[in-house]
Amino acid sequence: MSSPSELIFFINGRKVVERNADPEQMLLSFLRRRVGLTGTKYGCGGGGCGSCTVMVSRYDRNHERVVHYAVNACLQPIVALHGAAVVTVEGVGSTDTKLHPVQERIAKAHGSQCGFCTPGMVMSMYALLRNKPQPTMEDIREALGGNLCRCTGYRPIIDGFKTFCEKSSGCCQNGREEGRCCMERKGSKMNHSEENDICHKLFPMDDFLPLDPSQDLIFPPELMMMEKKFSAAPLYFQGERVRLVAPSELLHLLELKADHPSAALIVGNTTIGPKMLLKGEFHPLVIYAGRISELGAVTWGKNGLMVGAACSLSTLKEEMEKAVVEMEAEKARGYQALLQILQCLAGKQIRNMATIGGNLLSANPKYDLSSVLAALDCTLHVISKDGMRSVPLDEKFFPAFGKAALRPDEVLLSIDIPYTNSWEFVAAYRQAQRREFAFSFVNAGMKVAIREGTDIVESLKVYYGGVGSTLVKAEQTCQQLVCWSWREDFLSEACRLLNVDINVSPSIHGGRAEYRKTLAVSFFFKFYMQVVLEMTERGVSGVALPPEYLSALKPFKNEVPQGQQSFQLVSEAQPCGDPVGRPSMHQSAFQQATGEAKYYDDLPPVQGELFIHMVTSLRAHARIINIDPSEVLNQPGVVAFVSAGDVPGANRRLWFSHPEELFAQEEALCVGQIIGAVVAETREQARRAAEKVQVTYQDLQPIFFTIEDAIKHESFFEPKRKVERGDVDEALRTAEHILEDQLYMGGQEHFYMETQGVIAVPKGEHGEMDLFVASQHAAFTQEVVAMALGVDSNKITCHVKRLGGAFGGKVMKIASLSAITAVAARKTGRAVRCCLDRGDDMLITSGRHPFLGKYKVGYNSDGTIVAADITYYSNGGCTLDESPFIMEKAILHMDNGYKIPNLRGRGVVCKTYLPSYTAFRGFGGPQGLTVMESVLHEVAVRCGLPPEKVREINMYREQQCYTHYKQPFCPTDMLRCWDECLEKASYQDRLREVQLFNSSNRWRKRGITAVPMKFGVGFSKGFYNQGAALVNIFKDGSVLVSHGGTEMGQGINTKAIQIASRVLQVPMSSIFIKETCTGNVPNAAPSAASFGTDAVGMAVKDACEKLMRRLQPLTEKNPQHTWKQQITEAYFQKISLSATGFFMGPPTNVDWEKGEGQAYYYFTFGACCSEVEIDCLTGDHKNIRTDIVIDVGKSINPALDVGQVEGGFVQGVGLYTIEELQFSADGVLKTRGPTQYKIPALCDVPAELNVHLLANAENPGAIYLSKGIGEPPVFFGCTIFFAIKAAIAAARQERGLSAIFPLSSPATAEKIRMACQDQFTKMVSSPTGDSAAVWCIDV
Ligand SMILES: Cc1cc2nc3c(=O)[nH]c(=O)nc-3n(C[C@H](O)[C@H](O)[C@H](O)COP(=O)(O)OP(=O)(O)OC[C@H]3O[C@@H](n4cnc5c(N)ncnc54)[C@H](O)[C@@H]3O)c2cc1C
Ligand code: FES
Ligand code: FES
Repeated sequence: MSSPSELIFFINGRKVVERNADPEQMLLSFLRRRVGLTGTKYGCGGGGCGSCTVMVSRYDRNHERVVHYAVNACLQPIVALHGAAVVTVEGVGSTDTKLHPVQERIAKAHGSQCGFCTPGMVMSMYALLRNKPQPTMEDIREALGGNLCRCTGYRPIIDGFKTFCEKSSGCCQNGREEGRCCMERKGSKMNHSEENDICHKLFPMDDFLPLDPSQDLIFPPELMMMEKKFSAAPLYFQGERVRLVAPSELLHLLELKADHPSAALIVGNTTIGPKMLLKGEFHPLVIYAGRISELGAVTWGKNGLMVGAACSLSTLKEEMEKAVVEMEAEKARGYQALLQILQCLAGKQIRNMATIGGNLLSANPKYDLSSVLAALDCTLHVISKDGMRSVPLDEKFFPAFGKAALRPDEVLLSIDIPYTNSWEFVAAYRQAQRREFAFSFVNAGMKVAIREGTDIVESLKVYYGGVGSTLVKAEQTCQQLVCWSWREDFLSEACRLLNVDINVSPSIHGGRAEYRKTLAVSFFFKFYMQVVLEMTERGVSGVALPPEYLSALKPFKNEVPQGQQSFQLVSEAQPCGDPVGRPSMHQSAFQQATGEAKYYDDLPPVQGELFIHMVTSLRAHARIINIDPSEVLNQPGVVAFVSAGDVPGANRRLWFSHPEELFAQEEALCVGQIIGAVVAETREQARRAAEKVQVTYQDLQPIFFTIEDAIKHESFFEPKRKVERGDVDEALRTAEHILEDQLYMGGQEHFYMETQGVIAVPKGEHGEMDLFVASQHAAFTQEVVAMALGVDSNKITCHVKRLGGAFGGKVMKIASLSAITAVAARKTGRAVRCCLDRGDDMLITSGRHPFLGKYKVGYNSDGTIVAADITYYSNGGCTLDESPFIMEKAILHMDNGYKIPNLRGRGVVCKTYLPSYTAFRGFGGPQGLTVMESVLHEVAVRCGLPPEKVREINMYREQQCYTHYKQPFCPTDMLRCWDECLEKASYQDRLREVQLFNSSNRWRKRGITAVPMKFGVGFSKGFYNQGAALVNIFKDGSVLVSHGGTEMGQGINTKAIQIASRVLQVPMSSIFIKETCTGNVPNAAPSAASFGTDAVGMAVKDACEKLMRRLQPLTEKNPQHTWKQQITEAYFQKISLSATGFFMGPPTNVDWEKGEGQAYYYFTFGACCSEVEIDCLTGDHKNIRTDIVIDVGKSINPALDVGQVEGGFVQGVGLYTIEELQFSADGVLKTRGPTQYKIPALCDVPAELNVHLLANAENPGAIYLSKGIGEPPVFFGCTIFFAIKAAIAAARQERGLSAIFPLSSPATAEKIRMACQDQFTKMVSSPTGDSAAVWCIDV
């Protein structure tokens, strides 16, 4: 190979010249570690989250213009950036110089909570504005489709960004229906304000910085010159392990392919990149084909479109979008079908990088383009040194998974996508776990040519992806139906033949065999109807399609979420400088939007810093016979291997006297348990070496993973819990009816955008160590680290600046990870950084408990529930963790808002051989409540009564009520929420509309459901209900607040500053919170149980009041003095300007012997109503509208509270609909990243999401009459689940089936489809197979 080339590109206007650029180096790590630009974040490393979005600009010399596009830096090799200009969030604007309007608006609109996704959001929007300064809402939707946010629920992000749209009459621009703007649709109360102290504006729009494109970074003239003088010389790069050649001429590429047939060829790197980065695939020689102009050409000819193989999917989409507008509709049918698929394929960033050639030649049946392009009769032009040939794109082109019929020396040059003829009809379909930004389970392309003027089939093409290991043609169907008339008997025959053609193996990768086969037939049915419709329009159809069938043909329209938020204004008497009760922006929103906000992994390297990578068990239950790290120690860069024997103190984490090993020593209890760890100079070295540790296991019995199996083995953790009121057995005996049923709820992955990690820095004396850690319970981390190191806690200091989301997942496991990292730091004497990859994070740290609720209920015909006996089983995994407390919360919440006179709840935590489940927002509450809601729902169905009536009949109503564990409360505010929610949602009107819709649509059904909520706030372990703070005032008058809570996006710091500002009477800008530090505020409770602000707020108030009391004599003496003068005076008078504050919260406790007590500080109430629509043929669903009314007392900060409600609700939407963890029959977690595990994206947020904070609500006793809000709204996601269930029931009843049927959570597309039984599901017989063929199990 020739000598390495100089790589030249720009980052934020600065030239970068790399003489030894490594082909393995991706832009993300280059930015973060080489350049020190840490604003661009790591969320997954595989293109699946958008946290790493940056903008790339290039000069396009063919069109003489600069093009800008967003890309995922994690998949962008730096060597492919020669001649490009990269802009990162730091290059867009900063708080030091000037914010960019994008940054300002996302911050001011409260679109940044934890802030970890914010830079990516900013960059996606910025790239859009660079191309289109006045975008439409659809542009924004498309631009943000590849960016995930786990905190906000997206609505505030959209609200901030939609201010860039062309000014319109205030319309949301989602398109007019029935001549009305979506804001004015029936039942929508968006513009309605009944009372004048109710406000609908969470942020002012009038003082935004204007967008001024002239202020943007210009494309570097040097790069423009460089491109204009284009040098055809190839580029060569040599890294540590890989060399890469980037030819710029086609002939050179072909020579390279001929000389090195086994070299990997990359263009967009979106298939090869994830394989190399996440799956360890290795290619010593790589050819980059992205510089060859012939491969990128797009031309329209007389037969159609000829597109170069290296054309990006975005360019292809744009070209077709432009062209179809001008084209006759008949010719454009194929392009329209392709466009429909392209808009859901991946996210915008991926489409900007991914190429059509790469998509086809990856030969992966779950990729969408092969099926539709094959149906369209595309031709591939393939070239090698020996010449060119053309091949039809069909099933023969894909002989096996990952294989295309290309010789190793050949390259795909271009693809011809022909126009359709006037009697050709085309359709393309796909169905995925999430409608957008998700690989499809099944995709399909179909084309029929009809003999002109008749309904006779001349030819038929039906292709499927996702039903086999490669592209599948429905051979018999296509052959045997030629010359048939497109009529009903044709359909029956087609279905019969498809049943033969499509043979989905029960052991197909990804499972869901029965569903996939059903989808294949259902797609064909849709196609059949579509063609009938088109032929009817031409007057040649012999079939009368019933009008109620037509809605099945329209795909769901993805809309941009809109909604109204309302809250009560503070009283006019409140001084305007007092921020409490006002919607203040998150304290560090600007820093988060500019990328200046530092998370633990953004801290610069400490000198000599090492990296640690965990070695985890590959067996679910096994004796560890031997751990052999000898091979590892010889690997490059490896410094040490650590395991149990290296722990100087205790190899365990102690939690309420329950120990859990840090390193498994003798026995492995699950796949993913930490056995050891490799410490090396770089992350990559540590990761690669960790794979080489040899562990010898001896399998032990038993091994099981599911709740049902644990029950069979009687494998339970102690204690079991029981609460009971009334005489359940007697009431069950006398009830008119008995219902026995169960509800299973799957678990949930936290999927905080920032993965877990820590930096342990030994201080070199007295065994001291500093830890910069992503923990929501710093004091516990400190305690565990001290025990592991065998030192006192006073030697260990934990610092938590902020967390990129936590949701309960950063309490327990992070303490073990920190201790392990600290042990490595102690052993090596050097700082050690641990930063879990997304896959390891999901594997090791686990998440929300799966629950099974088995119930026996006695009820009367009028819907009154007289008795309920519910046993809750949770899957606790292999160790206890917080499982018993989570189970307690579930059974303490089981009554929800219902006064069931005889109620018994039992709670049993199952011990299985899975990673230990842990706390997750709601902490068992959602599971406890949902099982009860299932009871209410099923009773209503059985009584034939409207579910809301059954709920109302059974609600607590007296002024003074008692829970089933005898805690008194007043349900008035819950009833107010319920009534207001139904009223604001126009529930009765919409219920009638839903019924009307259902009676006039056969393949689409709607459901609407409302639930009330009563949710306990605070810890039921009374000692945790404490808060502490330290407030220091400096001589210049500035105030530094420290408290024991952790900032993880919920805005605890902002609220603490608001409180301090009120008491000290100084502006919020004079008050600062730097970090949470165990050295400042010791022994703090975790930030959890929705109790953070209650605890911390009271403590801050206490400290500030102490200071004010000390200052009072000075204020009285010199009332005219400014704050600063008073402080100076106080200093000279030797008045202490530092005070601690403490809050001794309520003495909650439950006596579990008696099953009674004061479990909670108070209750947060609310109600939620949701409407959904399902597609009975595919199982897809759309969240149409949700209305929430929630009682947060007197809100301290309505913007933050609304943010918590929306974010929690959308997390709940994920929990109950699309988030599905898959374990193999061997207990191996398969869903280890955003590619396999789907959290809600923009498309999952209800098109209309309204949140109202209950007015005139007060919570005496809590900080400024407010209520905690973090956890409760997750449960509201169940309204979507029950609305789906109602919609399925409507479908079933129409088909003469029972409305009583099982549905477990999450209600995925698969479950929805299979529950909507019809002729197609009947046709598809259940695949049989032994347990080895089971793809995943419900644990
Ligand atoms: C997060 C994510 C989400 C995605 N979602 C979807 C989705 O929903 N639907 C979908 O269909 N796809 C999806 N994809 C896949 C994506 O469309 C493909 O990865 C992409 O099209 C491949 O193009 P590339 O240029 O990046 O290929 P590369 O990774 O560069 O190459 C892929 C393969 O194609 C070969 N190749 C490429 N060009 C040529 C050529 N001209 N001649 C010969 N061989 C060639 C390469 O040698 C290599 O084997 C997703 C990918 C990611 C990362
Ligand atoms: S880190 Fe790049 S997309 Fe997730
Ligand atoms: S603010 Fe979006 S992930 Fe936290």
